[in-house]
Amino acid sequence: MLKDPSFFIKTFGCQQNSADSERVASYYLARGYKLAKNLKSATEIIINTCMVRQSAEDKVTGFIKNIVKNKKHRLKIVLTGCMVGMIKRDQTGKYLRILKKRIPEVDEFLPLEEVGFDYSSVRSDPLHAWVPISNGCNNFCTYCVVPFTRGREVSRPFADIISEIEDLAKNGCSEITLLGQNVNSYGSDLVKKKSKGYKLPSGETVKPIMVKHLGRLRIPTLFPYLLEEVCKIKGIKTVKFISSNPWDFSDELVKVISQNPKIDRNIHLPIQSGDDQILKKMNRWYSSKEYLALVKKIKSKIRNAQISTDIIVGFCGENEKQFQNTVKIAKKVNFAYAYISKYSPRPNTVASKAFENDVPHAEKEHRFYILDQLINHKGSPRTAVH
Ligand code: 5AD
Ligand code: SF4
Repeated sequence: MLKDPSFFIKTFGCQQNSADSERVASYYLARGYKLAKNLKSATEIIINTCMVRQSAEDKVTGFIKNIVKNKKHRLKIVLTGCMVGMIKRDQTGKYLRILKKRIPEVDEFLPLEEVGFDYSSVRSDPLHAWVPISNGCNNFCTYCVVPFTRGREVSRPFADIISEIEDLAKNGCSEITLLGQNVNSYGSDLVKKKSKGYKLPSGETVKPIMVKHLGRLRIPTLFPYLLEEVCKIKGIKTVKFISSNPWDFSDELVKVISQNPKIDRNIHLPIQSGDDQILKKMNRWYSSKEYLALVKKIKSKIRNAQISTDIIVGFCGENEKQFQNTVKIAKKVNFAYAYISKYSPRPNTVASKAFENDVPHAEKEHRFYILDQLINHKGSPRTAVH
């Protein structure tokens, strides 16, 4: 007997993917599918993919091979998320050919653009909600595939975000996390060029904040206003946001955080490297000195502020001295925690085309270990055996 159509979602990757999966669920429910309790009872599996590192892609491939090996009934396999975003944007068709060869088991590709924002997300936690405020990125850090998988930065309308959070609060949600690849450039695409004012949903007209962008130009952002408006919503007790770029972190943003106790005091500020030459090669528009000055400003103006970060070890050409510069800055900042990654080349990125991935894997592991001990285990770095 044929089973009623039902779906199960497996999510890989970051919080943005978790938020996307909640929208994918409502997209399927709206089409008459039922949410299956587990993979075994589903007729379709939707795999929300990540490809930020090679290891993330390998996990997706391994997962698919595994379910195909173990499946007892015909299960339709649908791929969505970053891998599908990459296929959609890769005009050469090369990535699609690679994927079809690597995972021929996939029946369908679902681009997230098709899912859109028309349905309210199916949320698993009634007290906390992920709320995407923008999608995509304009920064093109040379190692990063995100601009190729998610495309250019598109901000969600201000009023839509506020009304979504108001509804969440009415339904008992008290903690929200605003999500975007670079939250502090939120709204630069919503503000008309040379516009002197932006009308908030409350009716008030505000002057967009100009932030230094890529060191070359300044762009208008509405993020400090968005944070302020979100904090005013009754019932919301904690507001978090990830992720922000050091070079777009305005004084106005520091001020809004310092004045609103609802905003979480842990600020995630990816540094990636503490060496100026490597930062340049990564196309990151700040120096280690500027990063330190920003941390100092944040800590002096925001009581109890803590800084967490992302670091890549073993980027192309990174020598021991350059790595030690990262160790030095980590000691100075005293990060609350760090997500440390070993560099892996990603399709279409400048680094994969123009630079050599020349740091041996064992050396990447060694550098990972040193930083992990120093930051995440608060020990003094010991020499790892490799
Ligand atoms: N290799 C290793 N780590 C990477 N990241 C992004 N791209 C790569 C890559 N090619 C890390 C960065 C980023 C986090 C989400 O993943 O530290 O901030
Ligand atoms: Fe990737 Fe850089 Fe954009 Fe972050 S800011 S998503 S690391 S390109």
